[in-house]
Order: sequence, then structure tokens, then C-alpha cells
Amino acid sequence: MCGIVGYIGSQQAYPILINGLKRLEYRGYDSAGIALVDNQKPNIYKIKGKVSDLENFIGNNSKAGTIGIGHTRWATHGVPNDINAHPHKSMNGKFIIIHNGIIENFSVLKQKLIKRGYSFKSETDTEVLADLIEYIYEFGHVSATDAVRFALSKVQGAYGLAVLCTEEPDKLIAARKSSPLVIGIGENEYFIASDATPFIEYTDKVVYLDNENLAVLTTEGISIKTIKNDEVNPEVQKIDFDFDEIEKGGFKHFMLKEIFEQPKSLNDTMRGRIDLAHHTITLGGLMGVMPRIMNARRIIIVGCGTSWHAGLMGEYLFEEYARIPVEVEYASEFRYRDPIINSEDVVIAISQSGETADTLAAIQVAKQKGALVLGICNVVGSSISRETDAGVYTHAGPEIGVASTKAFTAQVLVLAMMALFIGRAKYNIKPEHYQELIDELISVPEKIEEVLKTSESVEKLAELYKNSPNFIYLGRGCYYPIALEGALKLKEISYIHAIGYPAAEMKHGPIALIDDKMPVVVIAAQDKGYDKIVNNIQEVKARKGIIIAIVNTGDVVISKMADHVLEVPKYKTAIGALITAIPLQLLSYYIAVLRGCNVDQPRNLAKSVTVE
Ligand code: AGP
Repeated sequence: MCGIVGYIGSQQAYPILINGLKRLEYRGYDSAGIALVDNQKPNIYKIKGKVSDLENFIGNNSKAGTIGIGHTRWATHGVPNDINAHPHKSMNGKFIIIHNGIIENFSVLKQKLIKRGYSFKSETDTEVLADLIEYIYEFGHVSATDAVRFALSKVQGAYGLAVLCTEEPDKLIAARKSSPLVIGIGENEYFIASDATPFIEYTDKVVYLDNENLAVLTTEGISIKTIKNDEVNPEVQKIDFDFDEIEKGGFKHFMLKEIFEQPKSLNDTMRGRIDLAHHTITLGGLMGVMPRIMNARRIIIVGCGTSWHAGLMGEYLFEEYARIPVEVEYASEFRYRDPIINSEDVVIAISQSGETADTLAAIQVAKQKGALVLGICNVVGSSISRETDAGVYTHAGPEIGVASTKAFTAQVLVLAMMALFIGRAKYNIKPEHYQELIDELISVPEKIEEVLKTSESVEKLAELYKNSPNFIYLGRGCYYPIALEGALKLKEISYIHAIGYPAAEMKHGPIALIDDKMPVVVIAAQDKGYDKIVNNIQEVKARKGIIIAIVNTGDVVISKMADHVLEVPKYKTAIGALITAIPLQLLSYYIAVLRGCNVDQPRNLAKSVTVE
């Protein structure tokens, strides 16, 4: 949450910062601000609202300066308003800072500073940090860098931080703990940002700052040390980024683009991993840890939101093909229990962003208890991908829409490949069946292409139900996580209340909600639970509920019973079941658009949840 960007070099900083903030806006859009240093003097502009509001607000004011920092906020401490917007200035104006994260002990620090004569304008934890840095700088007679270092040693919590000191205006100080920060290295110019998107047109050389590291950037160079002042030798990496991936490419919203990208993104997920000639799967990222995976007593999958739903799909896939018992846990709950785990367990952390604070904390718990920890991440170089022992990238490309779509299908596909890879290695899958399953995997993108052709009929259906205040989503077996995912998609972007339930559980409570105004979306594909789902549909119909059924092409039974059907091509296994998520993504999208909602930036949300 919150996006930060900074620049130091010979170019004008403003265009880099403002464009960078637009690319980081998915991380939070409650307020935005920029500080520019021109002729050693700072100019700060900040305002409640989006980056476009900030641009209008700055208007014709001075945008000069070759050093600057910018921030887009997802509010934690203090309501979104102009005063709580970043950058924050210390009381005597010597430090200007932007921050992504939470300073947990801010109120204790604040009280101490108040006793020492400090007063505060905002309600934020960040202003407290700015003042703490200034207090140490003034009373400790230390350099700005040392003041930041000492201040951070007093801080509990998470930070991605950029600091300007008006008395040392030729440097930019950056630090991180638990919140992401990447440094872009140009020719006598440097960039910092929460991810690399703000500077990809300027450089492809990056350094991912490690936890509790502090970097000092000047036009002369970069120096990185730990908070404890130990020298760090930065590892410069090259990033491979396709600029088109972060543009809308003719689509009205990123979410729609990302839904339609799925045939391509899933082919990218499989590329280089499935040998079509020999019908084999090879997951290079797992090779070094295969003995431990094959001997695992249990697999525990952790994640949040959509990634947790993918984990539930993984449970079906792993238990069916790898024959290893699986538990799926919300990362946010797992970390606060005292889970019984040991070195015979394998923990798989799933995360699109690779930065989710709860998932990162769950990884720490699992590591401390000796489990092998694997990651399934989309963002290359993200914190989770670096914290885990091994893993598999989803390679779905950047996902900008806050509602996750292509990352979900890629996560499930990776889980399917893992389950088959392990299942085959353990001789649980017969060769003929293995080939059939791989064929099914390969056919998923093509089948999704078919589903996408039906988007117009989904849009028409959305028109009919856009004003329904509630929705119920039902599914059995591996369709239950898809029902949960469908309900989450609808509620997060259209603000319609929606619940997902295992279809058979409906009679234990939710059936009381059904009347002639309740749309019930049922995933009713032809598998072993088909007859049972037909019964569940009858139960809803008997209470006059409106059935929207996702069925396989050519279904004649449910088509006659349902009020509306959305067809998906036939498939044979749980791997193909993934396809049923596509009409649900489209339905949520069109309903939200018809309701006039901001689909890519839904209220109160942020793409990457880096706070607990
Ligand atoms: C999905 O549409 C959500 N916006 C959200 O639930 C998300 O999946 C969750 O915050 C986890 O994020 P991650 O995959 O980046 O860890």
C-alpha cells in the first residue's frame, strides 16, 4: 500500500515523478504528493485525491528541480486529506519524507517528541518519523544519513522510505524494512520506487534493496549499508520488461485487458515448462528441493484473498495428483496461531504481488519452524520470491487492476503443474493419464479464448442484474473456490454484497436468503458432482431463486432448469475447471462498469497490501 518514487540526476525530476506515481497508483489512491528540490530549496505539493488531482493542483507552479520524491497514499493513520498526504516535513523543516508502511510504535515516539517540544500537524505515523529524524540530527549533531539510520533503529514496524534533507540537498536517502523498494541505476542518475515501473524507460539495471538496508544516492554514486552500519555489496540485476504490459492497449480498463490477456498469460506460465514433444513438465525452480517435497508429510498453502482461493484449488489438485495431504490457511490467521509445523512439512506461499505483509509474516513463521517454504509469485524479484527457499513464478505479466484475474488463473495453473510434476515423480499418475492431463493443461488457453467470445452475452446478463443488492455463488468440490472467487470479484469492484458457498452447505443456512429477487450463480459443470448440483439448483428454484448457471457446452439438463446459462467448453478434469472462473470475472466486470464503479481502483482497496 502506498507507492513511493524518487529521482536524483540531471533531468528534471517532475515528469519522472508524476508519471511514476501514475504507474504506482494501483498501490493506493487516497492522496498524492511531490517534493522537488530546486537550487537547494524544496517545493512541496500534496493533495487529497488521485495523481491527476495533484497534477491539476500543481498547475503552473514551479516544477523545477533535479531531485525529488513522490507518494501516492493508501491511508492507514489518519483520514485521506491534504494534511495527512505525503510528503511530510519535520517541524523545523529540515527533513522531508515519504513512507510506505506502518510505524507501529509511533504513539510512544510521538509522546517522547511532544515532551521535547515537538508539535504535529497531521495524524500520521510518518510525520513522527520525520520529526524523530530531525531531533536526532539536531541534537546528535550527526549527518542526515546517520540521523535516518539512528531513527530507524528506534522504529518498530514496516517502512519503504525516501528522505530529503534541506541542509544536505544533494542526496536522496532511501531505506526499507518489509515494504518493497527498488533502486534504478542510470548514468549518473538514480531512481527509487516501490516497483520498477516508474523508471523502466530510463534503465533496466536495478538493485532490490534488502530488509533493513539504507541507501544514499547522489549524482556521484550509490552507497548501501545496513541499519547497523555494515557495508553492503549491492547486486545489480537486469530486468526484462515489456512496456506494453503496463499500458491499457485499447481496452477501457486494465481489468478487462487482463481478463482478455489470459490465453496469452497462461501460455506464458507454461512456456519452457511443458515439453510438448515428450509430454513432460519440468519446474526448474523446484529441482533442488524435490527430495524434500516428495517426502513431505503435509503441504500447507498460505495466501490472502484471491491467492487463498487459488490455494483452495491447489488442495484439490495436490490431493488428487500428488497424493500429499494439504491444508489451506489464510496467511493472516496462520501467522497469529502457533501452528504445529516441522521440517517434514512444505509450506507454499501464494502471492501475486509477492509483497503481502501477512503472507510474508506467515513465511517467517514457517521458516522458523524448519519447514521448506516455496513461493508462487507473479512479481519477479518481489520480497516473497526472495524470502522463500524455492518456487515457481507465474509469469502472468504485470497485473494493474486491483481485482486479480490473470494472476488467479496463472496461480492455479502453476499449482496444477506442480501437482502433476510431483505426482508423476512419485509414480502416482500412470503415463497415459499423465499425457491426458498435460493435454488438458495445454488446451486451457484455447478454451478460455472460446469463453471470451461470449463476453457480449455476459454483458447483457449484467444489465439485467446490475441493481441486485445481493448475490449467492455456489459450487461443489473444486468449483467451491471458484464460487468464492466469483463472489469476491463482484463485491470488491461493484460493492454488491455477495457470498460464496459450497452448494451442499446452502441448506444449512443460506437457503433462508433465497427469494424471487436473489440471483444465485451456480457453477454446474459436468463432473462427478453434477447430479448433486442439479439437486441444489432444484432447491433454489423451489424457492423461486434466479439461477445463473455456468455449464459445459451442450448441457441440456441444467439449461432447461436455469433462468440463464453461460457456456464454457467441455473438459475432463479439475485442471479444466479453471475455465469456469472466466465468465464470473466478466460478469463482475460488466456489472461494476454498468453501476459506474471505478473498476481498476475500487474504493478502500489497494493492489498490494503491505500492512497487517
Ligand atoms: C483480489 O482481487 C484482491 N484484490 C486481493 O484479495 C488479493 O488477492 C490479496 O490482497 C492478495 O494479494 P497478493 O496475491 O498480492 O498476495
